Order: sequence, then structure tokens, then C-alpha cells
Amino acid sequence: MAFRGHTQNDSQAIVSLFTSVFAQSEGEAEGTLIGQLAQDLLEKTDEHDLYCFIAVQSNQIMGSIFFSRLDFENGIEAFILAPVAVHSDHQGQGIGQALINHGLSALKSRGVSVVLTYGDPGFYQKVGFRSIAHAVIKAPFALSQPEGWLGQSLLDDSIETLSGQCACVAALSEPKYW
Ligand SMILES: CC(C)(COP(=O)(O)OP(=O)(O)OC[C@H]1O[C@@H](n2cnc3c(N)ncnc32)[C@H](O)[C@@H]1OP(=O)(O)O)[C@@H](O)C(=O)NCCC(=O)NCCS
Repeated sequence: MAFRGHTQNDSQAIVSLFTSVFAQSEGEAEGTLIGQLAQDLLEKTDEHDLYCFIAVQSNQIMGSIFFSRLDFENGIEAFILAPVAVHSDHQGQGIGQALINHGLSALKSRGVSVVLTYGDPGFYQKVGFRSIAHAVIKAPFALSQPEGWLGQSLLDDSIETLSGQCACVAALSEPKYW
């Protein structure tokens, strides 16, 4: 399994992967929604505000992950991990955790300080995320499941309180994702 940043040529396969994985795990409508999110992230996000990595085996994309910029008033380098998917036939083999860890170390080497995500705490705690209170870091939108607001520092063990508003990229600026 090789991990690398995506290129323009990978875009269609990445959108197809997110569409089919989420359709299988959560139904057709969710597949369409997250496929569209992947496409919007690729098409509407400035290259300085987006990292997309893929896991490749035998020329096939087995998994993909997005990190997009969160803007805080204090200017800290922060990104949000969302979404991530592993091919439905290859889940539960460690690919997802390896892909996340690859992304986190790539972001760390590029000077990113904090990574947030919004998802299942049981899964994301395996790769270093822990719950973040709203008072410590505000999410860009009201959260339907506040217990899913998670983060980790890439610099040390503690997450500093980030006061003020937080803004996400255009593709994620839809209340339905939160
Ligand atoms: C979630 C996902 C990316 C994990 O990738 P993966 O390669 O299957 O996961 P790994 O093999 O690295 O890790 C498996 C571990 O995570 C747990 N896990 C996997 N998916 C989980 C989920 N949705 N919720 C909670 N735990 C989960 C497994 O129980 C397993 O735990 P164990 O190691 O203690 O047995 C993948 O299953 C997937 O694409 N799922 C559908 C889409 C999705 O839910 N994406 C995440 C939200 S954006």
C-alpha cells in the first residue's frame, strides 16, 4: 500500500470512491451527498487550503482523506479532517488508520498546529483525537452531535483555547454537514 497526495488525474476516482463507500455504509442519499462534498472540496478550494491523500494498491485507489483549512482569528494553522473513506471491500484492515496517520504527519511537517474533526469518537480516538469542548474551540456551525467535535495538537499534548469565530472552506460551509 502506497500513500501519496492526489493529483488532478485522481479526482474522478476519488469522487467515485466517496460516493460508493458512503452509499454502501449509510445509503444512496448519503453517498450522493458525500460524493458531492468530495467534488466541491476538489473544485472549489484554494490549493493552499486543502490536502487530499490517497492510499493506492495495484493502481487502484483503496482510500482517500481530505483536510481543509479552518480560519481562526489568532491565525493558527488549523485544518479539519473530513471526509475519509476506505474502499468497502478493504475496510477493517488498518488502511483507514494508516491513511489518517500519513495525513497527520504530512500536515505536521508542513507546520500545521492543530487538526479538528467531526465524527465517531470511538474510531478517531485510535488516531489521537479527543473530545473538544465548544468553549475551547468553536465549530464553524452549530453541531447536531457536539460529542463528535474532536481535535488534536500536532505540536504537543495540549490543545490551547482558541477564542473567537472559526470559518471553514466554502465546500463545508453548509449547515447540513454539521
Ligand atoms: C471509517 C473508515 C474510514 C475506517 O477505515 P478502516 O480501514 O475500515 O479502519 P481500520 O481498519 O484502520 O481501523 C479499524 C478499527 O476502527 C473501528 N472502526 C471502523 N469504522 C468505524 C466506525 N465507523 N465507527 C467506529 N469505529 C470504527 C473498527 O472497529 C476497528 O477497531 P479495532 O482496530 O479496535 O478492531 C472506513 O471504515 C470507512 O470508510 N467507513 C465508511 C465511511 C465512514 O464512515 N467514514 C468516516 C466518517 S467521515
